[in-house]
Amino acid sequence: MNDYFIVKAEEDGVNVIGMTRGAETKFNHLEKLDKGEIMIAQFTEHTAAVKIRGKATVHTKYGDISSE
Ligand code: TRP
Repeated sequence: MNDYFIVKAEEDGVNVIGMTRGAETKFNHLEKLDKGEIMIAQFTEHTAAVKIRGKATVHTKYGDISSE
C-alpha cells in the first residue's frame, strides 16, 4: 500500500481517477494533468485503484506501461 507510482502525461487533459477501497468501487478523486506534468502518488486507505484516461506513461515497481 505504501509504494509510489508515477504518472506522466503525454498529452494535455490526461485524467487520473482515484477509485475507492472497500465494498463499493467509486471515483473519489479526479486529477487533470497537462502534457509533461507528472503526478507521484501512493495507494492509500481511501484509494485502491486508479483509472487513467488519455495518453500517459505509468511507472510502477512492476514496470512501465503506456495508456492511449
Ligand atoms: N485523497 C486521496 C487518498 O488519500 C488521494 C490519493 C491518494 C489519490 N492516492 C491517489 C488520488 C492516487 C488519485 C490517485 O486516498
